[in-house]
Amino acid sequence: MIKIYCADDYKGMSRKAAEIVASEVTLKPDCVLGLPTGSTPVGMYQQLIEWNKAGDLDFSEVKTCNLDEYVGLDPTHDQSYRYFMQSNLFDHINIKPEHTHVPEGNAADPDAACKRYDDIIRDLGGIDLQVVGIGRNGHVGFNEPSTSFPADTHVVDLTEDTIDANSRLFASRDEVPKRAMTMGVRPIMQAKRVLMIVNGENKAAAVKAAFSGPITPEVPASILQLHPCLYIVGTKDAMAQLG
Ligand code: PGA
Repeated sequence: MIKIYCADDYKGMSRKAAEIVASEVTLKPDCVLGLPTGSTPVGMYQQLIEWNKAGDLDFSEVKTCNLDEYVGLDPTHDQSYRYFMQSNLFDHINIKPEHTHVPEGNAADPDAACKRYDDIIRDLGGIDLQVVGIGRNGHVGFNEPSTSFPADTHVVDLTEDTIDANSRLFASRDEVPKRAMTMGVRPIMQAKRVLMIVNGENKAAAVKAAFSGPITPEVPASILQLHPCLYIVGTKDAMAQLG
């Protein structure tokens, strides 16, 4: 099942996405949420913070697993995804710190850290609702275009396109890490529900390639066509090329 919701603008997209996350938390207060970073989810997180502060949404039993993290950045680095999650969500809601999981980007042995991350997801019983964005190149998490769909959490070399896209957040392009750890497709495909959020015209071609084209690791998000319960919440311009 793919259910598509087209919002007028970023505010509407963020609100609808937050409603879907809030429904999950309301129906299953100890749910496991898979969470993304990036520009797209910021408004959704703001809405969730607002409802939590108003006493309408309780995160005290919620667990979270983030999709990815840069290799080599300390959690206190202001471009690390742990830092992003603390400042954009976790520090502002009543979630228990020990319930939040982000791959250990600064681990001495990144491959061992990837393995530990899969163990954490497995021990949590898998993900109930996985929220994802999409890259301009069709990546999901940091699963970049390639010749296969890696199943497990793994270290990836970021593509030049991704480094370019993310360099806007760093002082210079040279400071963008060249490697990241990302969940593979298994936990994403095994999540009970997946919510893809998409904003802006510059994602329209990626959305078309992922959902109106063949399923191929060249467009990693295309594997979501096979997910049994996928919600796509996007702005009108991001969805404009969907057939
Ligand atoms: P963005 O990133 O939300 O910053 O556009 C999404 C992604 O690259 O997956």
